Amino acid sequence: MTLFDIYKQSLKSLKNPDVEEINIRILLGEVNQLKTMSDFYLRKDEEIRDLPRFQEYFKRYLEGEPIQYILGKTTFLGYDILVDKRVLIPRQESEEVVVFAIKKSHEIFGNRKISILDVCCGSGAMGIALAKQLNTERIYFSDISKDALDVCSKNLKANKVSGDIFEGDALTQVISKNIKVDLLISNPPYILKSEPVDESVLKYEPHLALFADNDFSIYEKIISNLNAIKNDQLLAVFEIGINSKNPLENMVRKYHPQSEYGFIKDINGKERILYIYLK
Ligand SMILES: C[S@@+](CC[C@H](N)C(=O)[O-])C[C@H]1O[C@@H](n2cnc3c(N)ncnc32)[C@H](O)[C@@H]1O
Repeated sequence: MTLFDIYKQSLKSLKNPDVEEINIRILLGEVNQLKTMSDFYLRKDEEIRDLPRFQEYFKRYLEGEPIQYILGKTTFLGYDILVDKRVLIPRQESEEVVVFAIKKSHEIFGNRKISILDVCCGSGAMGIALAKQLNTERIYFSDISKDALDVCSKNLKANKVSGDIFEGDALTQVISKNIKVDLLISNPPYILKSEPVDESVLKYEPHLALFADNDFSIYEKIISNLNAIKNDQLLAVFEIGINSKNPLENMVRKYHPQSEYGFIKDINGKERILYIYLK
């Protein structure tokens, strides 16, 4: 059977073929090792190389599994990131957070070498992108989930980033090792249990990565301890949930009344980034 035969046949099983057809091309492209999406049209008459593998992928897709878990990978700001059910699939919103952190770091640190911490790192996508884009002296990754850190370690190797990995709650390990950094990035779990979440996210992604245990306590654990990990200066950049501005602003004022801080709007005009700059 050719790729195009299978493509046409598979479309019939989709609820929303106009929107979802791209996913069939992606799965077929993976099985036949196509490099780009336009390769699909150039090579659509080629025989499928491994039909049972495609069928297994397609079955999982129809059951609602995110395509990134099926493929075992995604891209984050152009870097290949391995993912499986032990880590959250890095989101586009987080790319915006990293892009902001890079811009702000250039403003503050110029091109001097800096140390970076990605806390609540999951797959490590954010820290890896920063390590690649900034003049990095050292980079540290920390997460409470041993499973997530296993994925993170594979991603460091695959992306040729050398970093230290710590397992622990918020900043505990970093503080106990007396590590000081210039830049902290964090995308902690921030969904409240009362908020609506997509069925496929709920079914497949790790709940430890999604849900805030007690409102904003994870942010408080990090924000209240920033001075303990601060080099001469510290820029801390957080991804935040919708409607979190007020409580987080109160927290920043409580712990760092002298700091420069700000909330940055994302591409949809929502305040989804918080930065705190301690001089
Ligand atoms: C929203 S995910 C973010 C993962 C990754 N930074 C990203 O943007 O794709 C949150 C991560 O925080 C970790 N986590 C949850 N509670 C934590 C805690 N108390 N201390 C440290 N990490 C925690 C989870 O295991 C998960 O990997």
